[in-house]
Amino acid sequence: MKKFYITTPIYYVNDVPHIGHAYTTIAADVLARWKRLSGQPTFFLTGTDEHGAKIAQVAEAAKISPQQLVDQVSRKFSDLWTTLTISNDDFIRTSEERHVKVVQAIFETLKKKGDIYKGFYEDWYCLSDETYFSEADLVDKKCPQCGRDVNKLKEESYFFKLSKYEKPLLDFYAAHPAFLSPKNRANEIINFVKSGLRDLSVSRSRVKWGVPVPSDPAHVVYVWFDALINYVTAAGFKAERGSSKPDFADLWPADVHLVGKEIFRFHAVIWPAMLMALELPLPLKVFAHGWWTVEGTKMSKSLGNVVDPHTMVAEYGVDPFRYFLFREVPFGSDGDFSEKSLLGRYNSELANNLGNLVQRSVTILVKNFDGVIPVTSHTSVLMGDGKAWVAGIRRDFEALAFGDVLESAFSLMIKTNKFIDEKAPWKLGIDQKKELAQVLVECVAVLKVLSVVLSPFMPTKMQELWVGLGEKGLIEQEGGALLAALEREPAFSISFEAGQTVKKGDPLFMRKGGRWK
Ligand code: ME8
Ligand code: MG
Repeated sequence: MKKFYITTPIYYVNDVPHIGHAYTTIAADVLARWKRLSGQPTFFLTGTDEHGAKIAQVAEAAKISPQQLVDQVSRKFSDLWTTLTISNDDFIRTSEERHVKVVQAIFETLKKKGDIYKGFYEDWYCLSDETYFSEADLVDKKCPQCGRDVNKLKEESYFFKLSKYEKPLLDFYAAHPAFLSPKNRANEIINFVKSGLRDLSVSRSRVKWGVPVPSDPAHVVYVWFDALINYVTAAGFKAERGSSKPDFADLWPADVHLVGKEIFRFHAVIWPAMLMALELPLPLKVFAHGWWTVEGTKMSKSLGNVVDPHTMVAEYGVDPFRYFLFREVPFGSDGDFSEKSLLGRYNSELANNLGNLVQRSVTILVKNFDGVIPVTSHTSVLMGDGKAWVAGIRRDFEALAFGDVLESAFSLMIKTNKFIDEKAPWKLGIDQKKELAQVLVECVAVLKVLSVVLSPFMPTKMQELWVGLGEKGLIEQEGGALLAALEREPAFSISFEAGQTVKKGDPLFMRKGGRWK
């Protein structure tokens, strides 16, 4: 059965992971968790991009072999994903044998077909970006991407006939309007293709650390050509029969490639052209999100302002950090990271709003009802039409509008806190038990729905809340049924087990003082 297949870029291992890498991977994790919650079998891939001149350079400077370097740094990525509770199903490394074999097979297939041919390449080369630029692209004779020096180089090279796919690509974009996402980034790609595609140099004779071209081992495969192939390698393309690899037909085509905007072109132009040449189906969507700056400036090692996700997790916890990234900026747009804002949202939205709502509801329930939820079914007055509310959440998740999901959850939270303030259940006496029960059940019912909807963002804390509400099992297994039930019933109700008992635990989010500078 076809699974929902979602990928992140595979990250370069010449540098350690920072919040930019964490952002894309957490976004993919949110979507993967949402898909699993809604009952869709899902496969989530991330990994590391380990070949190329830059990596060889860094290894040489560190006086270790490239393989040692990539082993060390790749581990830093996979360790960070463990810390950030990333639920990836596979982690691919381009130095792995399973990948090298597929790259070589693809290269030779396209060479035989004539879509890869040998020629000469000469242009301005930026070693740092491993990219050639034409004279017209240069800015003040420097690399237009990183501003470093460029050199005029000429080398024998294999070329991929990218130009042949100009028209097929344009036809494809026109026939599949959801492919280039978000919509406001589509024109840039379409115009780029319309302006004419040059064949792409896809081998290097100067570089040693890469995948050798089998029929001409003086060449290694260009790192981007190598890297893009990871998405089909991990899906089991050309895998031997009976191996433990997934069945290619269960995964391919990918449903979403999530990428940063700076590598949109590679995924929206080169990769689909490669797939066309291979006569493979194209992914359903490439989604390019925006870039984070830090306190208004571009993150860079030389400026020393690179934000280490480990520091943020140590200070605020994994779940608040994950929540913040999607609460602060609409997914797709550029954003600015500031710890002050993280602290502010942590205190006002998580500790004060959500945390207090939980604390107040549970405390009063325990005090007056020994924690037992006094009904087995409740129709929320605050959610309004529950069917429409859940449909809105579903639509936003499917559109990757994660900020809109959080906004809906947050406004329901605010409403519920206002409701509890107005009803002031702590003032209701023992003779008003029926009214008291109604107020508390409303709050608990809303919290149950919120724990499910927020669980893709804050899996650990929402599971804690779920258990605190006296629910059994795992949200990821039980939560989907709750949403489905709300959608089925126009006059929907939220159900509880007879005798279901809430538990008073530690606050979910402790208020914090200001550590930030
Ligand atoms: O480009 N804001 O790897 P890379 C948001 N190996 N996202 C950011 C970011 C920022 N400031 N900085 C990085 C490569 N990212 C290639 C990819 S895929 C076949 C090969 C994220 O290590 C964002 O997802 O430079 C961006 O696209 C990616 O990290 C680039 O990672
Ligand atoms: Mg980069």
